[in-house]
Amino acid sequence: MTPDIPFIKRLVLLNCAVPAVLLAWDAARGNLGANPVNFAIRTTGMLSLIFLVLTLLVTPLVRLAHWNWFTQNRRVLGLYAFFYALAHFLIFFTLDRELSVSGTLSEMSLRPYLAVGTLGLVIMVPLAVTSTNRMIQRLGTSRWKQLHRLTYVAAIAGVVHYFMLVKADLRWPLAFAGALAVLLGWRLYTAFNPPPAKPPASPRPSPRRPTAVPDSSV
Ligand code: HEM
Repeated sequence: MTPDIPFIKRLVLLNCAVPAVLLAWDAARGNLGANPVNFAIRTTGMLSLIFLVLTLLVTPLVRLAHWNWFTQNRRVLGLYAFFYALAHFLIFFTLDRELSVSGTLSEMSLRPYLAVGTLGLVIMVPLAVTSTNRMIQRLGTSRWKQLHRLTYVAAIAGVVHYFMLVKADLRWPLAFAGALAVLLGWRLYTAFNPPPAKPPASPRPSPRRPTAVPDSSV
């Protein structure tokens, strides 16, 4: 049964926004606990990392499950990874650093994990900007694909950022590092062992004339 692709795209688009809506709802009702700003920063950071991994998961999923129709959701997932990373940074900058550029820069000099996080966010900016069809056409598919391999670098920066900031329990950073290592390993493997090229599709008999049996009578 062919999936209803537009419906699935809408479903993905709406469901990716649910965590943001819930976080805003809880914030509005004062339900973010004793340290609401830190809770909001950590939640958006975690969501950004989750969506980065989900974005990188699309290609293996499409190849292994032959879900070609799912490729169209990679852009939505990538843009949500950027959305949550940007929200993550803006909550930190506005509510924790109180819009102080010098305060943010001095905090970065004290906590290198912030600089690594910033690297990840900065890398995601051109990826988000070039996610439109027009930009793909302007760049050309191969240059676009090369640029979007930076998604791996942004994800690695996010995981390193997470590792550096966690003091004790390394289980989640390790889990993300493991997922990323598998995805990167798969990517490298398929790069060196490309799937066999599909045989060219046999030319369809033209509908106008019945399949012409070679006219042996000529
Ligand atoms: C690709 C970009 C980024 C990703 C994927 C990311 C991801 C994360 C993750 C997963 C956490 C930990 C969440 C937890 O403990 O449950 C976190 C925490 C944090 N991140 Fe980021 N981050 C990014 C960029 C940034 C940037 C640009 C800044 C600010 C300049 C930043 C500031 C912080 C802070 C202050 C924390 C909380 C640390 C604490 O609780 O002590 N992050 N981030």
